[in-house]
Amino acid sequence: MKIVCRCEDITEEDIINTIRKYNVQTLVELKQLLRLGMGPCQGRTCLPIAARILAKETGKSVEEIMAPMARPPVIPTPLWLVSEDDEK
Ligand code: FES
Repeated sequence: MKIVCRCEDITEEDIINTIRKYNVQTLVELKQLLRLGMGPCQGRTCLPIAARILAKETGKSVEEIMAPMARPPVIPTPLWLVSEDDEK
C-alpha cells in the first residue's frame, strides 16, 4: 500500500479506484472526490504524484494534468473592505 497523501490518508489504490469508478479526467475532480491536496500541505507533495497516476490512467501528459488550477476571485475585493482598520 503506497500512501500518496499522508495528510488525508489516501493511497495509490484509492486514487486508481476512484479514477476508474468515476471516469475522472482532472485533478480538480480527484480533489473533490477524495479531499486530495486539502490537508495541511495543501497538495505540495501529493498533487504531483496524483497527477502522474492520473496521467498514466487517462493517457494524458502530466503537463496537461497539472495545468494551472488557480481560480481568480469573481469580483476583485479591496483589502480595506475586509480589514478591521477603518482607513482606506
Ligand atoms: S499530502 Fe496531500 S494534502 Fe498533504
